[in-house]
Amino acid sequence: MKIVSATPVNNGKQVDIEFENKSAYRFHTAWIRDASPSHVGQDFYRKSAKTVFEVDKYTAETCQPSESGEKLVVHFKNGVAENADSDEYVSSWLHAFAPHVGQPLNAHSELKEVLRGTGSVMEALHKNRKPWLADLKMPIFDAKELMESEEKQAEFLECMTDPGVALIKGVGGPESLETSVVGLPLEKLGSGIIGRMNQHPVRATRYGVMHAEARAAAAGADYDHANPLSMHADHSVYHGTPGYLQLMYQARGTVTSKVCDGIAVAEYIKENHPEDYELLTTVHVTHSSRNQIYAQDGAYRQDTASPGATFELVHTHPVITIGEDGLLEKIVQSETKRGVSALPYDKYERFMEAYKLWTKLVEDPRFICNFEWPEHSVVAMNNYRTLHGRAKVPAGMERTMIFGYFQKTIVENRYRFLRQRLVEKQSTMLNDRWLTRLPNQILSKLV
Ligand SMILES: [Fe+2]
Repeated sequence: MKIVSATPVNNGKQVDIEFENKSAYRFHTAWIRDASPSHVGQDFYRKSAKTVFEVDKYTAETCQPSESGEKLVVHFKNGVAENADSDEYVSSWLHAFAPHVGQPLNAHSELKEVLRGTGSVMEALHKNRKPWLADLKMPIFDAKELMESEEKQAEFLECMTDPGVALIKGVGGPESLETSVVGLPLEKLGSGIIGRMNQHPVRATRYGVMHAEARAAAAGADYDHANPLSMHADHSVYHGTPGYLQLMYQARGTVTSKVCDGIAVAEYIKENHPEDYELLTTVHVTHSSRNQIYAQDGAYRQDTASPGATFELVHTHPVITIGEDGLLEKIVQSETKRGVSALPYDKYERFMEAYKLWTKLVEDPRFICNFEWPEHSVVAMNNYRTLHGRAKVPAGMERTMIFGYFQKTIVENRYRFLRQRLVEKQSTMLNDRWLTRLPNQILSKLV
């Protein structure tokens, strides 16, 4: 978006800028000066903590569109001749901010609501998520291609918002099945495309290991393959659910597994059982457990002589959390980890009916997508949206599965970075100096 004219007004305290689409805004000169990337060093931090006390001493003397209106040169002065200087701004960057920081000057201009909160570059995609059913066509990525391509990584993270599940093939096998190395292919993939996996409170490795053998079954009902878990989300007992994305790596064995879209079930209930939906989104239940799977050295307890490292977990929340935007933010479901909930007397019977309806529906074949999960591939899913069941392991098949989680902030900032990078690679004007440090809501208009 080019600038056609720019004029200092009110003795240079403000600047009126007109863009080629006829929109026009009045900007504070101090805002323009304060926002300049010139104040920022190579490390993307402000060079000085004192500039903030000086920016409002400056007025705009002249403003001149340059490079055919793609840029604006502002000449600033502050009453001391040697302090006068010029700075250059990218027009499309000023245009992205204009409805948020400017005063509209004509009917072609708009005034945006006051910007609040961190938001997400993923927001538009989040709003357009489509529910899926049993016939979901599982998106498939190639591990090597993902590791090498930022475009593919962005596409993969978009896929983690919608449909919220994908298969990554060609991850390769582990060097051995030893706990300290068996998950390294997953860790390498995860850190290559997203970032560090979430650190467990006690376990030495960031990934967990599940063997379809007797020694793992001893670790708890969660690991008992003879007693398949019902459809669930992970991290139900962790306050705030740190596990936003979940990667599960089939280090040994080939199985079939199943997933279910929490949005599809929630929308079905909203439409057909509105009172149940209301209860599931407002009544808080408690998920809680005491974990005694690990030892003080961070190993699985049955694999070490180290004493136990027992810890407590509790999380109280609605089964379906609705965000401020009115859209589904998070599903937390795990019948085996459901604790004792403080359900109000007058809502108890009706709520439990709603909860049983929900728990049955997430098992309903209409909503369950079954898929092949080959050896050395990874199932990636959005743990806030997609529920999963226990895999079906063929008789006699030895299986080792590795799992790890990524926090929402890490995922969202990785996606922000990838979108910035994709524009930086194409454009000469919108380089990293212009695309960094902006609110997500503004950045979204530029990437
Ligand atoms: Fe799970």
